[in-house]
Amino acid sequence: MRLLVTGGAGFIGSNFIHYWLKNHAGDFVVNLDKLTYAGNLENLTGVEKNPHYTFIKGDIVDPAVVEKAANGVDTIVHFAAESHVDRSILEPEVFILTNIVGTYVLLEAARKKNIRFHHVSTDEVFGSLELGTTEKFKEITPYDPSSPYSASKAASDHLVRSYHRTYNLPITISNTSNNFGPYQFPEKLIPLAITNLIEGKKIPVYGDGKHVRDWLYVIDHCRAIELILLKGVIGKTYLIGGSTEEISNVEVVKKIITLMGKDESMIEFTKERPGHDRRYSLDWSLAAKELGYKPEHSFEEYIKKTIEWYQRHEDWWRRVKSGEYQEYYREQYGV
Ligand code: NAD
Ligand code: DAU
Repeated sequence: MRLLVTGGAGFIGSNFIHYWLKNHAGDFVVNLDKLTYAGNLENLTGVEKNPHYTFIKGDIVDPAVVEKAANGVDTIVHFAAESHVDRSILEPEVFILTNIVGTYVLLEAARKKNIRFHHVSTDEVFGSLELGTTEKFKEITPYDPSSPYSASKAASDHLVRSYHRTYNLPITISNTSNNFGPYQFPEKLIPLAITNLIEGKKIPVYGDGKHVRDWLYVIDHCRAIELILLKGVIGKTYLIGGSTEEISNVEVVKKIITLMGKDESMIEFTKERPGHDRRYSLDWSLAAKELGYKPEHSFEEYIKKTIEWYQRHEDWWRRVKSGEYQEYYREQYGV
């Protein structure tokens, strides 16, 4: 396969490129990334010299850039997005541009060349579930997004589906729960908690901290996308979740605190995130039945490994937190 991966310098995209080139060494990957604050070429150390890998710095909103990047590829795996809910509350405009207009531009390029299009989306499009229920999101759950981020992702999902129904574009979509693992930008809860503790800083927990997320180790996500690319039914959407017991944010934070030998005085309850969804939980039985998907990395074990990764890669996250990582690609690539 010749893949165009968008947003491959971000958290999940970079894990996916490592995963794909390791497991499909004969394939070719083009990584198109704008290198926003969330894009970091240091996430791809070890890959950049692989002759099967090419990096293009560019914006998915620009049709000329996208058309050039899509030349000769047979599959697009679309990760590029503004991904952080808190930022979307403060500055929604770039979310509309990248997540909606950018997806439209990619779809147009795919339509012209009839390229298989896999769209990476989120469970946040479904809104919020009640705490204390056993209700789960399913593929048929109506969309009800709460934040400008999730609304922009919802719009992009609708566009992708419409290109299948109207133009018969070969698409698939995955709506996935909260990922954790290596190379996650330390603005998200888990890497923020780990790196703050190493720095001796408190962990901000929004509201009462009883919000529940369905944690998924990033490699399980990469494997799920692989299964969809290889076996997924064209036109379909698959929900991809983790295997954890329901665990609240404050319990996640307490677990990290215990594993790192600190105490609960490091928790600081802060004001609530506006529009904060209470609970996410995904029914991934369709992906299990049709693709043989099942999460293989437990939260219990992989939260420990994730803490160890951030402890071993202090240099990586300190450069991210200080902004120095952006110097790296200027030096290395002149971009
Ligand atoms: P991220 O913020 O870590 O990375 C996003 C990447 O996209 C960065 O490399 C950034 O430079 C690039 N990018 C942003 N705007 C761009 C543009 N206009 N043109 C080209 N590149 C651009 O995000 P992530 O957490 O890796 O998420 C990847 C995808 O997965 C997103 O679509 C997100 O909605 C989705 N998703 C994320 C999670 C999660 O828990 N992180 C869960 C479900 C779905
Ligand atoms: O559900 C999938 C989504 O997961 C993805 O689509 C998003 O791209 C990704 O950012 C993530 O969104 P969340 O808002 O759930 O992730 P975040 O790590 O920001 O927050 C996780 C939970 O922790 C959420 O309930 C808010 C809370 N939180 C977050 C931060 C950053 C805190 O209590 N304190 C914090 O400092």
